[in-house]
Amino acid sequence: MFFHDFQWHRTISKKQHNAYLRDTTHKVCGHSTEDRRQPGEPPVENGWIPYLGCALQFGANPLEFLRSRQKKYGHIFTCKIAGQYVHFLCDPFSYHSVIRQGRHLDWKKFHFDASAKAFGHESMDPSHGYTTENLHQTFLKTLQGDALSSLIDTMMENLQSTMLQSGMLKAETSKWQSDGIFAFCYKTMFEAGYLTLFGKDLDGDQSIARQQAQKALVLNALENFKEFDKIFPALIAGLPIHVFKSAHSARENLAKTMLHENLSKRTNVSDLVSLRMLLNDTLSTFNELSKARTHVAILWASQANTLPATFWTLFYMIRCPAAMKAASEEVRRMFESSNQKVDPPNSRLVLTREQLDNMPVLDSVIKEAMRLSSASLNVRMAKSDFLLHLDNKESYHIRKDDVIALYPPMIHFDPEVYDNPLTYKYDRYLDENGQEKTSFYRNGRKLRYYYMPFGSGVTKCPGRFFAVHEIKQFLCLLLAYFEMELLDSDVKEPPLDQSRAGLGVLQPTYDVDFRYRLKFH
Ligand code: HEM
Repeated sequence: MFFHDFQWHRTISKKQHNAYLRDTTHKVCGHSTEDRRQPGEPPVENGWIPYLGCALQFGANPLEFLRSRQKKYGHIFTCKIAGQYVHFLCDPFSYHSVIRQGRHLDWKKFHFDASAKAFGHESMDPSHGYTTENLHQTFLKTLQGDALSSLIDTMMENLQSTMLQSGMLKAETSKWQSDGIFAFCYKTMFEAGYLTLFGKDLDGDQSIARQQAQKALVLNALENFKEFDKIFPALIAGLPIHVFKSAHSARENLAKTMLHENLSKRTNVSDLVSLRMLLNDTLSTFNELSKARTHVAILWASQANTLPATFWTLFYMIRCPAAMKAASEEVRRMFESSNQKVDPPNSRLVLTREQLDNMPVLDSVIKEAMRLSSASLNVRMAKSDFLLHLDNKESYHIRKDDVIALYPPMIHFDPEVYDNPLTYKYDRYLDENGQEKTSFYRNGRKLRYYYMPFGSGVTKCPGRFFAVHEIKQFLCLLLAYFEMELLDSDVKEPPLDQSRAGLGVLQPTYDVDFRYRLKFH
């Protein structure tokens, strides 16, 4: 996270750049540049720039950088990145020693620090004294278990009204409509996801005019979200938000809509947001704006990865006729077996959680797209000096306050684990019986960790089940209601925008056009 420092330099202005340099110089002067590598510690690569160390090389192409260093140093090595010693662990068979190393490794610090830095609320870490809420528990309670079914039901309704009713389709529905896949996914999923978590402000008034007004507000929130999201890597790197005027006001606009006085007027607010409102009011000393900013953090967490993941899933699927065929078949069978007639705009399709859990083709289609596009770094900080034991029986001394990092793309693009790793294979995660495939091997040994876009261990994304279900619902509805095709059937895949590597699912560097129309007209 801290080593994004130089990845966004292309996009910032001179003034912003100067502010960054001031910040960096301050950090350099305050940091001891002691040279490391004591016996028993991993080999160190210091990089050629004081303070920044390997940041530039890492930022340019993380996967290539880590692979070349792995070749040189072996399973673990240390890089000095932006003043921090980071131990990269590259052997997937040793991952469990980090993922399970609860006693010595702190995962909370990054989350709490990063969230407060980016969203501007006071610390959510109970040890800092502003709140006693156990945020982790709040997430588990309201995003998983029973709460998940109600999120899924609401999402299905919201997706259908977003797709069919509120203006996405023009009057003459038999005509093809063109759009960018990225633009389409962002509009549809953001609106439906936003309404699912934060409820509606209809005041009982269901008129078309009221619905359109609500849509305009949500699309305005999307614009603010995108403006803010653009500079997210820079904020995590430590730049103050006031350097970015429009992103700053975008974040504050979002926060204003999420003041408790506004949220409390909405109906159908999710358990997640209503519980968080209650706990903000009862367990914290946050002021009203700080409370609202914690909700902006939830909005960001719920959308920032889901939206690009939806793009890649749809893009790869449309481009691959075999994937389209298999997925359409699975969706058709599912609706037929539950006696549901697809008849837009009159029908209301329903899919239960169990039905959605029983769609292995869609699961594989989503997983394969995320394998190719996700780049989240898993980080933990050492709470004390300790000995890290690797799978090959080697042990390494790790010092207090050092960081240990796992970079799952190293597995996702490992040709020993995934045959032709750069190629999209929609059925990669299906076994010979068409069910979920869970056996992946390296050096003839079965891997426990072979797919990690949602992180690992205690820091694993609490919204992962909802995320996969909502993308599946989106695909089911699209495939049931619409014909779709690329405008250019030979289109190449757009390159990944590496400026966000480490932070989650990467965005494409440009959009890809497609067209769609209702199947029944
Ligand atoms: C494809 C979609 C998604 C991906 C790839 C994803 C991935 C991640 C990752 C990698 C983390 C951090 C884990 C770590 O630091 O090791 C995370 C955290 C989190 N995610 Fe997701 N996520 C997705 C969707 C969602 C959704 C839909 C929600 C909520 C509705 C959500 C809620 C959260 C929250 C609240 C956290 C912070 C957890 C904590 O600090 O304890 N995510 N996610």
